[in-house]
Amino acid sequence: MFYKIYQSTILMAILAIAGNASAEILGSPHDLQGTNNSDGGQTCIYCHTPHNASAFAPLWSRQTPAGPYTMYASPTLDMTIAGSPQDTSLACLSCHDGTLALDAVVGLTSGGGFITGGNNLGTDLSNDHPISVTYDSTADTAFNAAAAGKVGGLQLFGTGANQVECATCHSVHDEGPANVSALLWIDNAGSALCTACHIK
Ligand code: HEC
Ligand code: HEC
Ligand code: HEC
Ligand code: HEC
Repeated sequence: MFYKIYQSTILMAILAIAGNASAEILGSPHDLQGTNNSDGGQTCIYCHTPHNASAFAPLWSRQTPAGPYTMYASPTLDMTIAGSPQDTSLACLSCHDGTLALDAVVGLTSGGGFITGGNNLGTDLSNDHPISVTYDSTADTAFNAAAAGKVGGLQLFGTGANQVECATCHSVHDEGPANVSALLWIDNAGSALCTACHIK
């Protein structure tokens, strides 16, 4: 009996270690250490600052992108999309719309360097999955119900804890499952990410 408990404790410890191995930002695509020569080998500095932060993400170090953005539009939408990206998505777009340098942050003299290729979404978001949309499964019954600010384990954002933002699908700190592409919170094999929300 004791042996069994002991054994399962060891197994849990091993699983925890295995699970943690890639569950962090260091070494992930968001570890931008060295992008600016003066970063002192730091990682968090590219997005967070302990002082003089801007408002739109926790202790945010980055400049605010100017936009303007073209939002997703479609005649079959049933929910409400904000006129421009809301705070949490704006945080991502401060690199991913390609207009601000990666090192345009509090405390560094920017030397440039912009996001490129498929990682650059641009300011036209009309060809991207809707963001800053207020999740409401009563408006469209082909959606799972949200509860306590989450749907299918995915986090909703905003003051009402009901907005789908970039960070709903993506883990910026790479804390999702190991060996999953595109920093997703849920492995999309079998479209499991999509069906966390959509009933299709
Ligand atoms: C590439 C940008 C980026 C980097 C680098 C980054 N973060 Fe974040 N962080 C974000 C964004 C965006 C949010 C808000 C969205 C979210 O919580 O998913 C956030 C939220 C947080 C939060 C509050 C929410 C939570 O997850 O607890 C903490 C704490 C945090 N970051 C700590 C850190 C630390 C510590 C580092 C460095 C080891 C770091 N971050 C590096 C972008 C970044
Ligand atoms: C400080 C700038 C910065 C911020 C802020 C930032 N990213 Fe990134 N992100 C990058 C860079 C640079 C890359 C490309 C890294 C590479 O080429 O390997 C990247 C890559 C990615 C990728 C592709 C990962 C892969 O496996 O290839 C995803 C997805 C992503 N970011 C999502 C986000 C989301 C969502 C947010 C906000 C929650 C965000 N990023 C905020 C700079 C940023
Ligand atoms: C509804 C879920 C969802 C939302 C919301 C979302 N993404 Fe993604 N994103 C994905 C999936 C799934 C992939 C992987 C696509 C693939 O591998 O073909 C992806 C891929 C990416 C990539 C890698 C390049 C590419 O095109 O494959 C980047 C960068 C990225 N997303 C950034 C963002 C940013 C920035 C936002 C917010 C403006 C955002 N995503 C919102 C689901 C989402
Ligand atoms: C966090 C929940 C969530 C996830 C995950 C998610 N979606 Fe969505 N999706 C939504 C919401 C909310 C809308 C807006 C629906 C509306 O207004 O009727 C939407 C809209 C769409 C639309 C446009 C519908 C229209 O009428 O124009 C398509 C297509 C779509 N999603 C496909 C996907 C695919 C494919 C995936 C997986 C890669 C995915 N979604 C992941 C919540 C999600």
